[in-house]
Formats: sequence, structure tokens, C-alpha cells
Amino acid sequence: MDIQSIGIIGAGQMGNGIAHVCALAKYDVVLHDVSSEALDRAMALVRKNMDRQVTSQKITAEDRDQALKRIKTSATLGDVGATDLVIEAATERESIKDAIFEDLLPHLQPHTILTSNTSSISITRLGSKTDRPEKFMGFHFMNPVPVMQLVELIRGIATSKETFDACLTVVDRLGKTAASAEDFPGFIVNRILMPMINEAVYTLYEGVGSVTSIDQSLKLGANHPMGPLELADFIGLDTCLAIMNVLHDGLADTKYRPCPLLTKYVEAGWLGRKTKRGFYDYRGEAPVPTR
Ligand code: CAA
Repeated sequence: MDIQSIGIIGAGQMGNGIAHVCALAKYDVVLHDVSSEALDRAMALVRKNMDRQVTSQKITAEDRDQALKRIKTSATLGDVGATDLVIEAATERESIKDAIFEDLLPHLQPHTILTSNTSSISITRLGSKTDRPEKFMGFHFMNPVPVMQLVELIRGIATSKETFDACLTVVDRLGKTAASAEDFPGFIVNRILMPMINEAVYTLYEGVGSVTSIDQSLKLGANHPMGPLELADFIGLDTCLAIMNVLHDGLADTKYRPCPLLTKYVEAGWLGRKTKRGFYDYRGEAPVPTR
């Protein structure tokens, strides 16, 4: 099927990046959020990030202006129903996603493909509660969306080949690369990345290294662009903990147990960059390790 319009639910960290890349790829975009302040913040961020791309000559000012015009914001879920492909990028909590799908279903056209940007929740289970499990799949972007090349495409048990192929065509048009993953906890990226981050937190918890020495080790010793603790702050410590819990519960193996220190940071509300404190304190000029 020919996808021309994309509805994005949730204007947070992931939603604004998804709107950004879809609009640059000349899709008509409807960006939805229940909060009009979140929509305003998201549009300001899209403009700021497109400006960075204009400055580094990745796109022209004309590309930016045309793309910004292609994004319509809406606080009404019904407006998303008219699109050909919906990408849900709301808060990573299953009850919230279920409630959104329940409200959205009556507005959808019969042909619309419904997807979730979930980083770890079962696609089969999410899809089974909709009226279209064969037209439902995982469409998982990486953060920051305009920069990261990968999109994980996850088929639920009922997802049809036509649905998968249509989503693959969208990934191609976005200029990104798709990795096909089976629907098991954490899919591919988070199945590997989160245990590494969790192990870095254990390394800190057990006093093997400081925040600085752990991050330096992986940056300079393994050529990672960010150290694991810096990356955890970037992703959000609440998200990291939620994904570790999905791996622990879903795979029932103690090797996935979340580090108690990660839990403590989340309990303190020190969730990383978004709350200005995590493994680093971001309230000053330069980040300062908190341990
Ligand atoms: N929008 C547009 N452009 C952006 C951007 C954004 N949001 N963020 C960064 N950029 C651009 C910058 O403008 C810059 O462009 P030029 O090279 O053309 O000047 C380029 O990206 C590099 O950015 P910076 O110079 O600011 O900083 P950097 O070199 O330190 O790179 C980074 C920043 C790209 C974030 C890099 O540190 C990195 O790749 N980090 C790892 C990110 C990662 O692992 N992401 C995956 C997380 S896991 C996930 O998302 C899945 C999940 O479910 C949890």
C-alpha cells in the first residue's frame, strides 16, 4: 500500500524526532499530544534541530520551511485517524498505550497501519487488543531520531507480510536502515544495550570504577560515542529501569536483574538529563558526576 500521511501520537523526545524525519521525507504529518504546551515545545525543538541541519548543510532552508509546513499539530486523537500510518510514541507504559489505542480505533480508516515505537513491550500483546493485529507492528526509532540510522521493525505473531513491506518502504524513504527483529523482550537493540548499561551501574555500585572512569573506559577503550552512564542519562534512567524490568520479567533470568543503584536513582527522581540530575548533575555549565 502507498503511505502518504503519518500520524504520530506523543510529542515527547521520540515523537518530535519522528515528526522531524517524516516531514523531511515529504510525508504529511499529524503530530498529536493531549498537551498543547507539549506540542508547542515539540515544534520549537523540530525547528531548532532542523536549523542545526541547515547550518551543517545537511538540508537547505527551503527543505526546512517545506517540512515545517507539512507538520500539523492536533490535541484531538480523531485527527490522527485520517492518516495511512500511525506511529504511537506515547509514554512507555502498557496501560497508557492500551487506552490510546482504544480511543483511536473508532477513528481509523480500514487500511490504516497501526504501529508502536515501544522499546520493549510485546507487539503481539499490544496488537491483540486492537481490531487489526495483522496491520499492527513495532516501529522502533533510536534517539536522537534525526541522527541515528537504525529503525527496528518488529513483527507480532499476526503481522502480515504486506504490513511489514509497507513499513519497510517508509524506512527506506526516511533514508534510514531497517533491522528486522522478532517479538521477544527488548527486541535486538535493548536486549544488548540495556544489560551493558545495567552492568556499568553495577560496576559503579560495587566500587570498581567512578562515573568518570567507567565512561572514559568505554569511550576511549571501546570507541563508544558516549559512555554507558552518560548514555543512560541521555535515554532516561526510568526508561532504562523499565526496560530491565521487561527483560527480567519476560525472560525470567536473574542475569537481567536491575541494579539496586539504578532503582535508587529513579526513586530519587534523578532520571538523567530530562530532570537535570542522574549519574551527572546538569544544572551547571558542564556536567558533574554525582558519584
Ligand atoms: N537533531 C538533529 N541533529 C542533531 C541532533 C538532533 N536531535 N542531535 C545531534 N545532532 C547533530 C549535530 O548537529 C551534529 O551535526 P554535524 O556533525 O553535522 O555538526 C551531530 O549530530 C553530532 O552532534 P554533536 O556534535 O552535538 O555531538 P556528538 O558528536 O557528541 O554526538 C550524539 C551526539 C549523536 C548523540 C552521539 O553522542 C551519539 O551517537 N551518542 C549515542 C546515541 C545512542 O546510542 N543512541 C541510542 C540510544 S538507545 C535508543 O534510543 C533505543 C531505546 O529504546 C532506549
